[in-house]
Amino acid sequence: MAGNWKMYKTPAETRAFFEAFRPLVAAAGHCEIVICPPFPDLAVAVDSARGTSIQVGAQNLYWAKEGAFTGEVSGPMIRAAGATHVIVGHSERRQYFGETDETVLKRTVAALDAGLTPIVCVGELLEHREAGRTEAVLCQQCLHGIHGLDERQFAQIVIAYEPVWAIGTGKTATPEIAADAHAVIRREMGNRYGTGAAADIRILYGGSVKPDNVKSLMAQDDIDGVLVGGASLDAKSFATIVNFPS
Ligand code: 13P
Repeated sequence: MAGNWKMYKTPAETRAFFEAFRPLVAAAGHCEIVICPPFPDLAVAVDSARGTSIQVGAQNLYWAKEGAFTGEVSGPMIRAAGATHVIVGHSERRQYFGETDETVLKRTVAALDAGLTPIVCVGELLEHREAGRTEAVLCQQCLHGIHGLDERQFAQIVIAYEPVWAIGTGKTATPEIAADAHAVIRREMGNRYGTGAAADIRILYGGSVKPDNVKSLMAQDDIDGVLVGGASLDAKSFATIVNFPS
C-alpha cells in the first residue's frame, strides 16, 4: 500500500503526519507500507519511520549517479537518504516533464542499480480508452519500457497501473476495469518473462483510491496493492486504506 504525496507537505507537516499515522498502522502486518514524499521531506520521513515497518520512497530519480545535472537527484542519493523505493514514470512526469518509455527504462535500471525498488507506472489517457486503444497503449508502454529489463531486474520491480483519467478526478476505474487492465499487463509480462515470473510480480492500482473503494479494488485477484495520491495525505484516511481488511 503506497502513498504518493506528489508536491504536498513540508518537513514539519511530514513529521506531524507520521506521528498521527504510526500508531494507526502499528498492527498492519498484512502488507508493505511505502510513503513517497517530496525530496526535501525524505530525511524527516525516514527518521519518523525508524523502528516501524513503514518504508519511504522518492517520486522520481535521474539515471546518472552524479554530475553536472542541475536540479536532478540520483538513485544513490535517494538510497543514502534511507529511502527504499522510488516511483518511476508517473503519468504526471510523462505529461508535464517529457518522460517517455525510454527514459522510464533508464530510470528503472538506475533505481535497481542503486538498490531501490522502482514502482514503475503505466496507464492510458481518456482519449485512448474512448478510442478503444487501452490495451494497445498498455502493451506499447510495457514493450518500450519494462521489457528492456532482464529477468533478474524484472523480478525486483513493482508495477503500478494508473489510468490517467482516474487520477485526482474522483473517477475510480471500476474494480472490473482495473482488473482487466491488470490482466493485460500481467499477460504482457508473461509473454516476455514467463507466466511464473509474471504471476509473482506485484501490480498496484492507482487513481482516486479512497477508504470507501479500496476493499472492492483489493478483492480483485490481479490487484496486489494500491498507489494512493490525495487520500494518502491524511493519516486517518491512508491508515483506513492500509487497514482495509479490518
Ligand atoms: P489520486 O489518488 O489523487 O487520484 O492520485 C493517484 C496517483 O496519481 C497516485 O500516484
